[in-house]
Amino acid sequence: MKILYLFIITLLLSSCAANTKGRLNEDFTSDWKFHLNDDSLASAIQYDDSGWRTLNLPHDWSVEADFSVDNPATPGGGALPGGIGWYRKEFVINKSDEGKNIYIDFDGIYWNSKVWINGHLLGGRPNGYISFRYDLTPYIQFGEKNVIAVRVDNSQQPNSRWYSGSGIYRNVWLVTTNALHVDQWGTYVTTPQVTKDNADINIETSIRNTSGEAQRFELYSILLDKDGKEVARTSNPLTVDSNSVIKADQKLKVANPTLWSIENPYLYKVVSRIEQNNKVVDEYETSLGIRYFTFDVNKGFFLNGENIKIKGVCHHHDMGCLGTAVNVRAIERQLEILKEMGCNGIRMSHNPPAPELLDLCDKMGFIVMDEAFDMWRKKKSPFDYSQYFAEWHEKDLTDLILRDRNHPSIFMWSIGNEVLEQWSNINADTLDLQQANLILNFANTINKSNKDSEELHVNSLLAIKLADIVKKLDPTRPVTTGSNETKPINHVIRSGAMDIIGFNYHEKDWIDFQKKFPNQKFIVAESTSGLMSRGYYTMPSDSISIWPDSWEKPLTKEVQHCSSYDNCHVPWGSTHEETWKLVKKNDYISGMYLWTGFDYLGEPTPFWWPSRSSYFGAVDLAGFPKDIYYMYQSEWTNKDVLHIFPHWNWQEGQEVDVWAYYNNADEVELFLNGKSLGRKSKAEDVFHVFWRVPYEKGILKAISYKNGKEVLSREIKTTGEPVSIRLTADRQTIKADGKDLSFITVEALDSEGNIVPVADNLINFAIEGPGIIAGTDNGDPTDSVSLKKPQRKLFSGKALVVVQSGKTRGDIILKAVSDGLKGMDIKIKSK
Ligand code: GAL
Repeated sequence: MKILYLFIITLLLSSCAANTKGRLNEDFTSDWKFHLNDDSLASAIQYDDSGWRTLNLPHDWSVEADFSVDNPATPGGGALPGGIGWYRKEFVINKSDEGKNIYIDFDGIYWNSKVWINGHLLGGRPNGYISFRYDLTPYIQFGEKNVIAVRVDNSQQPNSRWYSGSGIYRNVWLVTTNALHVDQWGTYVTTPQVTKDNADINIETSIRNTSGEAQRFELYSILLDKDGKEVARTSNPLTVDSNSVIKADQKLKVANPTLWSIENPYLYKVVSRIEQNNKVVDEYETSLGIRYFTFDVNKGFFLNGENIKIKGVCHHHDMGCLGTAVNVRAIERQLEILKEMGCNGIRMSHNPPAPELLDLCDKMGFIVMDEAFDMWRKKKSPFDYSQYFAEWHEKDLTDLILRDRNHPSIFMWSIGNEVLEQWSNINADTLDLQQANLILNFANTINKSNKDSEELHVNSLLAIKLADIVKKLDPTRPVTTGSNETKPINHVIRSGAMDIIGFNYHEKDWIDFQKKFPNQKFIVAESTSGLMSRGYYTMPSDSISIWPDSWEKPLTKEVQHCSSYDNCHVPWGSTHEETWKLVKKNDYISGMYLWTGFDYLGEPTPFWWPSRSSYFGAVDLAGFPKDIYYMYQSEWTNKDVLHIFPHWNWQEGQEVDVWAYYNNADEVELFLNGKSLGRKSKAEDVFHVFWRVPYEKGILKAISYKNGKEVLSREIKTTGEPVSIRLTADRQTIKADGKDLSFITVEALDSEGNIVPVADNLINFAIEGPGIIAGTDNGDPTDSVSLKKPQRKLFSGKALVVVQSGKTRGDIILKAVSDGLKGMDIKIKSK
């Protein structure tokens, strides 16, 4: 029986292995045991976990719970619970692998994890976003049962200014190598010289020898093009001492390289091969994009010699109703939606991202700012990373750079976001509104003891130290930070260690940047913070309010929405149009990272419960574009755009503002029930046109014209009451790999088949076949129904169901029903 059991586990392990010669890189995410609660005995090998839940990683236990204002994370942290959780997994390593090295690689655990193998504590890692490895080799019982136990402690709350998720929420890998092998993150591939005709490639390889004898070997570095065809190779005979690591430098040349760019993110691959006696001992792969870039003081960013404006967005790590549990398809969908908007850059705010997100940025062509920290020594929330900073910052920053420095999509390292060390003095009297808001939201968190002049010195030194850590590991990319102190007094900037000065907000200070910071390079690391609920409109649209009227008044659920006209933003931000106008017009601004591309869980500023997710996105939490998305699309892409809003279901006689975003046209004409309301063109530096229209029901139609010729037309109709449900899947065929997703949009139709944009019907879902409902959402930040419930109210006419495949093939049927509406089924093929 025992042998059969071991055999099955071994089989399972090898069935999901990614194997290159000499090493096994196994997906180690299946069949973990999970228990939400502490148990000091659970690290022991013989512990009885038979009563625990079995699940597959990545896993976020917080998102499985109900939202509640009583959760100590507060709505700022997503109003979901933290706690302490344990994971255990049994596995067997073949006896024949004795003598090999067995490592476990965690891409990220939130947070404060401790890991044991067979009862031996391997170590602990407080940082919730960093990737780390443990060497299991000395403790493995080859051919026997082994147990990994992981304790995750997310009980001290609040510890984050946004939703963090809890658990082993990223992938886990079991890596088996020979004693002689390429080390963890063991290559550093750079392209010091690139022209259209030629590229020089430097490859630094770290080779580890865990055997008790010196080893002689041949190191090959082989460059393959995207089709796997060999382009160049080099090799050297080398020797490494017993139990040590050596670094080898090699060079390659490529003629007529295909350059990595936003439009053509072409990836080569470097294969590092260790051979002994003509036998491959290890093979390790690094993907490579050949490109060159500069940031210019006056002209901004150049990629491969071409001046490009960075049109980026800041991105938090949750995937809406999936929480933070990494799913490659969910991340890919987010990036596809952003790419479609014309976005060409992502800022990993404010922490090391999942490796898969960076891989996708490499493959899809984004200009990434990779960011290490949201705080240094000074805290922003009561139990945040500041408490671990002193002990861990060197290791965490080093590991981030080592892990990520081969990604061609990364062009900048940010060593911090709005760290409070920008100021020498955190005296409440001197705070600007933005800092005051931090204090409001995260009361009691600011270290109020002032050691003024002393701190100035310490803060600048710290900035220099962090930049130095980065530069030693990667001199090829500039270092920056997100600064919300935009005056030269900023102690991080004054350190002189920033290669590019990154401002967050304060757009009034962008204008005289060149005067105040002569000869400095400039980027808008974060901007705007516009507030919008998808499909929600208040009139008139030209009344600018920095906060919604209700701010600081007792709030009811009904008013916790912000208008979709671009007229509301945080006091430290600006409207979308104002922001983009400045970035577009000023060449010295390398680009911008909009706060944010997607809404995210937590930080419902300016609201509080029942709001539990943000309002900042150009896209809502469910992935449905807001109207402003099309402003960006009209400015950031060349494709023809014409988008009119709001919907056309109002009260008779009411004045309604109709806005249109368009491009590739000179003017737009609006018609109401066939009658022209006139043609309009965008004024200079304004990116929309608008009409104030006395509402009458019927058909609103817009036509855009170029040189008098029609380019596009759009129609919005007054609809009747909803009578039926419509389901539309983004993909009707998915992979039966237990991970793939189909995103299904739910809408209500009237009797004529029009989508009812104001419908708020409650829809119930059921599923049959080899799949599950992984989550439901509607983009409403105030919806307090659990994101895992197979039920959702339509919000502004829409909801989303995420269907996840199982590991068996077959037809998955999703059924949607609602009182008084004709239901609908949709079939998803899982192959
Ligand atoms: C910024 C901060 C972001 C987010 C944003 C909201 O100051 O960097 O993380 O909090 O404000 O407007």
